[in-house]
Amino acid sequence: MKKTMIATAVLVLSMATTVQAADLAAGKKTYDMACAACHATGVAGSPKVGDNAAWKDRIAQGMKVMVGHANKGFQGKKGFMPAKGGRVNLSDAIIADTVAYMVSKSK
Ligand code: HEC
Repeated sequence: MKKTMIATAVLVLSMATTVQAADLAAGKKTYDMACAACHATGVAGSPKVGDNAAWKDRIAQGMKVMVGHANKGFQGKKGFMPAKGGRVNLSDAIIADTVAYMVSKSK
């Protein structure tokens, strides 16, 4: 258990350096407020944050595609992702930070 946690921490840290442009702290705040309702548990077919298998193929598409889907919304095979999680007042930039945060927790 401890080993897994350490491995996860290392992963998150190494991820943080690859996405240095993203503000992960701001992303977490937005995630908790606007995205966790679905993504914390996988409601409505959403990929659960922390579930590596659910994110693997999505991450493989690249950040640009994922952020585009989060911003504009999209109908996938699993369900419907509402544009910006329904919070249309959020900026595209903060959504990019939020996706970076979610990915950093799910790799
Ligand atoms: C009402 C539930 C709901 C909320 C709220 C929600 N999502 Fe989603 N999201 C989904 C579902 C369902 C999918 C999967 C759609 C599919 O692949 O079929 C998804 C998929 C995604 C994906 C993967 C896109 C891809 O290309 O595979 C990202 C990134 C994402 N959401 C980001 C966010 C962010 C950021 C927020 C908050 C601003 C958010 N979501 C809020 C339901 C939600």
